[in-house]
Amino acid sequence: MFWLEIAYLIGSLSFILGLKMLSNPDTAKRGNLYAGIGMGIAILGTILLHHNSEGQSIGNISWILLAMAVGTVIGYLLAMKVKMTAMPQMVSLFNGMGGACAAIISIVEYHGHHSQDFWLILVIYLGLVIGSISFAGSMVAYGKLDDRIKDIRANWLRILNLVILAVIVILVVMGVTDPGNSMFMWATLILALVYGVFFVMPIGGADMPVVISLLNSFTGMAAAFGGFLYSNQVMLTGGILVGSAGTILTILMCTAMNRSLLSVLVGSFGGGGTSGPRELGEQSVREIQGTDAAILCAYARRVAIIPGYGLAVAQAQHICHEFERILEEKGVEVYYAIHPVAGRMPGHMNVLLAEADVPYPKLLEMEEANDLMPQTDVAIIIGANDVVNPAAETDPGSPIYGMPIIQVTKADNVIVMKRSMGKGYAGIENELFFAPKTRMLFGDAKQSLSNLVSELKQI
Ligand code: TAP
Repeated sequence: MFWLEIAYLIGSLSFILGLKMLSNPDTAKRGNLYAGIGMGIAILGTILLHHNSEGQSIGNISWILLAMAVGTVIGYLLAMKVKMTAMPQMVSLFNGMGGACAAIISIVEYHGHHSQDFWLILVIYLGLVIGSISFAGSMVAYGKLDDRIKDIRANWLRILNLVILAVIVILVVMGVTDPGNSMFMWATLILALVYGVFFVMPIGGADMPVVISLLNSFTGMAAAFGGFLYSNQVMLTGGILVGSAGTILTILMCTAMNRSLLSVLVGSFGGGGTSGPRELGEQSVREIQGTDAAILCAYARRVAIIPGYGLAVAQAQHICHEFERILEEKGVEVYYAIHPVAGRMPGHMNVLLAEADVPYPKLLEMEEANDLMPQTDVAIIIGANDVVNPAAETDPGSPIYGMPIIQVTKADNVIVMKRSMGKGYAGIENELFFAPKTRMLFGDAKQSLSNLVSELKQI
């Protein structure tokens, strides 16, 4: 048992160290590796060293190793195959698997010897509810991020959600007070799965980031309940770390989207969304060609780059960094304005730009960038849409109403790089494209930036 405790201690410490290292792009990759190694040590330690109270080892080792091998191959192939832009979907899928594991642990343990102990049965029910919600919700989130599932915005769904939540609470109370009656456990499982689906279903467009981080924290909490059930420190530590990091991220995302956590929990946000997609009729846009855009930037004092999901799609981060470097060589001050939910996962733009070695101090957070915008000559939007949409400030019926945006209209000139008049994730029109200050530079972001770079080299 001594060596098992040591293995768990090493596992726990490497999780903490790994998480700490993840907070800096330079050390993040190593941090991920350390946490993975820690997890490996904990798993192997459990398989080889764990003995129950009768002194028996865990048994079925060949089955366990076979399952691990199958899981490893599937995980490896998925991770190698997935495109960078599909990473958020994959994270959702993996998160859902974590929730499913926690729920399965609860079901197994319910039928085990714990089921007569009040506190243990309570923990079993909590793990079951939270794990199932996380699993079902993450599957719907996966479908939405992958554009396979559309939002269902209906007030009845929000009311139904509250009713289901109330019934789940009643079932848990009944189940805990009557632990021998498995009917309550199965009913709770089914309703928690239904709630997971219905709770994510109405959450639309731009509000997905909050829900993703919330589901992430749910999985952490559910795993921590599992650790509590098994008195397993490493599972407890890992679960608490994921749960608390996810909760902090949820709060940050709520602040970024200007939403309250309560409205997330009942699946009722999105600024009402009453106006739906807003058509902007026959308004026309003004285009700019690469040469003129390059001249405008080369003679500017200060240029802001506002990256969005399109930068990731185009994989234009490296050429973007080169564009920024050439401008700086010409004496132009360049900064990046990073919106907290730009892209499709928390920190997406930071990760992307770090990959291209863009110096971290150049990435300004939204508030800081907005303060600098009135003293900015050119704001260049590269594949961003929702995070610069003025409807978030001006249209109370818009599904993104209330979300803070990068206020590019405060700059003297605005250039928007995108391929077409296509909409962003929230599926709404963007009046910015028709604003007098705005000029559109149509084309794939990588191609447009390459053109700009060659033009700049000739100035
Ligand atoms: P979006 O609003 O999704 O807009 C991206 C724009 O990029 C599109 O309008 C698209 O227009 C353009 N684009 C796509 N491929 C391109 C390419 N190859 N070259 C140039 N442009 C390209 O992006 P955003 O402004 O970053 O906002 C993010 C949205 O995703 C928000 O609504 C946010 O709430 C949501 N979301 C975020 C997260 C997290 S955690 N960050 C998670 C889930 C959802 P064209 O098709 O016309 O080119």
